[in-house]
Amino acid sequence: MLLLLHAFPLNHTMWQPQIDALAPTTPLLALDYAGFGASQWYPTTPPDASHIDEVAISIIAELDRRGIAQVAVAGLSMGGYVALALWRIAPQRLTGLAICNSRASGDDAASKAARVRNAHIARTQGAAALTEVMMPRLLSQYASPTLFQQVRDLGSQADPEAMANAMLMIGERPDATALLPTINVPSLVIGATDDPIISVSNSQAVAAALPDAHCIILSQCGHLSNLEYPAQFTAALQSWLQRIH
Ligand code: MLT
Repeated sequence: MLLLLHAFPLNHTMWQPQIDALAPTTPLLALDYAGFGASQWYPTTPPDASHIDEVAISIIAELDRRGIAQVAVAGLSMGGYVALALWRIAPQRLTGLAICNSRASGDDAASKAARVRNAHIARTQGAAALTEVMMPRLLSQYASPTLFQQVRDLGSQADPEAMANAMLMIGERPDATALLPTINVPSLVIGATDDPIISVSNSQAVAAALPDAHCIILSQCGHLSNLEYPAQFTAALQSWLQRIH
């Protein structure tokens, strides 16, 4: 079973290209965090979760509810932070880990301050306004106008309070760097040359610290790499999934 965890401020439908390609052959589940997309799938998530581990706990509860013992987890950006929280809380539930356009380290003071500003924008101006602020960092110059619009639309669907909350929670997430050497399952790291949020060297460092990781860097690609290069991204997931079992 493959579990797909989405980026901020999107929802599980950002995985549609991968769902279309993989669902015929791979059992998969793409979940929303509370307040994003169809988050009624997440009955146990505290709406005011203040620690990223609470999101991970709610995912475990959802897996339990569905009778799913183990999953291979692929998380993009915030999804990667949640995936690492899952490993921290319940490593025995994970058969593989894919960290895509994400990092293990925590935020520095400047990044935390930016999160606080963004939370304020979400609360006072709404989801579309915060999404607009983030747009230049989410997609590269090579992405199509259609994709820009699709991402704007997805971000605008989020609940502003959930967005603000998630921003603050991301800013306060613990540094997971020390976890990386303990992740003894087949791992995948995906990075992108034109991702202003996660540098290539950051992705390479995460891969180097993981005991069993393959690292793929996508060229002329921005932060939301699964949407900018869906076929290459899906192929990387498929090779990773073949290494699990
Ligand atoms: C995301 O794409 O999930 C966010 O940009 C994560 C972040 O800002 O660190």
